[in-house]
Amino acid sequence: MCGIVGFVGKEIKIEDLITGLKKLEYRGYDSAGIAYNNGSKIEIEKKEGKIEVLEQHLHEIMKKDIKSGLAHTRWATHGAVSDINSHPHSGQKDEIAIVHNGIIENYQELKDELQKSGVKFKSETDTEVIAQVLEREYNGDLFDTVRKAVKLFEGAYAIGVMHKDDPNTIIAARKGSPMVIANNGKVSILASDVTPILKYSRKVVFLDDGEIVRLKPDGYKIYNLENEEIQKEIIDITWDETLAEKGGYDHFMEKEINEQPQSIKSALAGRIENGYPTIKELDSIKDFIKNDLEKIYIVACGTSYHAGYSMKYFVEAYSNINISLEVASEFRYMNPHVDDKTLVIAVSQSGETIDTLEGIRLAKQKGAHVLAMSNVVGSTIPRESHSVVYMNTGPEIGVAATKTYTAQISILYAIAAQIMNWKGYYTEEVKKIISELELIPDIYKEILSKKDHILELAREYTHYKHMMFIGRGFGYTASLEGALKLKEISYINANGYQAGELKHGPIALLDESFPVFAIVPFNGLREKMISNIMEVKARKARVIAISTKGDEKIKKITNEYIEVPKTSEAISPLTVAPVTQLFAYYVAILRNLDPDKPRNLAKSVTVE
Ligand code: F6R
Repeated sequence: MCGIVGFVGKEIKIEDLITGLKKLEYRGYDSAGIAYNNGSKIEIEKKEGKIEVLEQHLHEIMKKDIKSGLAHTRWATHGAVSDINSHPHSGQKDEIAIVHNGIIENYQELKDELQKSGVKFKSETDTEVIAQVLEREYNGDLFDTVRKAVKLFEGAYAIGVMHKDDPNTIIAARKGSPMVIANNGKVSILASDVTPILKYSRKVVFLDDGEIVRLKPDGYKIYNLENEEIQKEIIDITWDETLAEKGGYDHFMEKEINEQPQSIKSALAGRIENGYPTIKELDSIKDFIKNDLEKIYIVACGTSYHAGYSMKYFVEAYSNINISLEVASEFRYMNPHVDDKTLVIAVSQSGETIDTLEGIRLAKQKGAHVLAMSNVVGSTIPRESHSVVYMNTGPEIGVAATKTYTAQISILYAIAAQIMNWKGYYTEEVKKIISELELIPDIYKEILSKKDHILELAREYTHYKHMMFIGRGFGYTASLEGALKLKEISYINANGYQAGELKHGPIALLDESFPVFAIVPFNGLREKMISNIMEVKARKARVIAISTKGDEKIKKITNEYIEVPKTSEAISPLTVAPVTQLFAYYVAILRNLDPDKPRNLAKSVTVE
């Protein structure tokens, strides 16, 4: 969380810092700030609120030329949301400015020590400790000072540092939080991800933990903490920069929901042929899967966990392969039963989620083979995994995951099918499901054409304070994601339950003020779902069904319904997703909320 960007070079203006920062706003938007050096001293400007507030505050100096600058958008951890706690932070002599993403765990000890020696702190943040330590330790060489000082910090950091006497240098260092750098001959750039860099260069380097870099206008040099220079692979980023723009839509979330016919096509390109999975990234572990694999463990958080849930149900339904699923923040503390016969699949859109990252580190220690699935090329989880399958869906900017969720399910099914094939479980039913995946782009066009109906529905339900989502089997996995989408962007209290569990507690909540979304694909459990719907109606709760086209019975017994095309049951989480995504989106905008930047959330969760 928190986004940082920095430039050192020729022809840079304040507005470049703001433009770069806007690309990272999804990482946090409690406050924003910049520090710049125009040759003689460092100026810092920072404001509570979204980047626009800072932008308005700076409007008279946007065109000002600077030699170097750092900018930061904050997701608050230590210290309230306020101007003073915003980054950049400086030491008490205002000679050094820093921006930081991460948490310094031993900040209190360091702060006590500094205060005892008379240092006066301006903010309540852990980050100011870094600035004060650097100022205390400064020995005339900023690189050397940072390299030695970072050894004092426990916890996670990606930092950018400037000194007033050296306007042509920025020092950056990383441990635990992401940092990408690039140079195009005129300017060096550092950022939390590639999106602010693409305007300047497509050739980037991802820093690893324990690396420190000196950025100058004409290039950069990377070192380890022992001061040895390191040569790193330069990665070519193929993302189209315009994919990170709204392209005529009001919000990124709306654009990303509507992009799904295309994003699923890209995610599956080259990965299914004639009803068979062809995931080349798995070829190198074919022997392991065929001969050694005894168990699969899926580890993920939030929406990625829900995508993993569908894969677990798919594998369990069609094979005898042992498969478990765990939320990463639990997995890493629970002594999971994984060993060298286990495949751990880490699902992470951002590739940076710290809980998932720590989960794979543990799995590796225990000897498991780790396969990462991520949307962000070069991010930390893929880099620390044995194998990687990239999602190829292009950048997702809306904080609530939409197109990456449906791409995750699609690719996870293809991975599952590949494993089932090698393990001897490739039945005609599995083949049919995999072939249906290729139909999803067209099915989505049909579902998305019903958006006016979904908007009308949202209008009717926008004033409710609570909603429940229920389903069975694959419908249950879809209900978890439907509820998460609604609660995170509309702040309606929404939860997903197995429909059969209602009678064991949640049904006590229901009355006319508590509508229920019932996810009822046309499957073997439909009759059971019908009984559950009747139980809900008997408690006077309104029922909105997401049902299969032509299911007349469901139409009759529910208050509202939205129909989706008939598919195999396993595909239903994919057909339900655009409906619940659009519903959540419309409720949020009808409530005058910003769906792209839900309160208290950030897209890349790099704190535990
Ligand atoms: C919800 C959402 C989050 C993420 C979760 C994991 O819409 O986006 O729940 O799914 O924070 O993030 P990744 O997939 O980046 O590890």
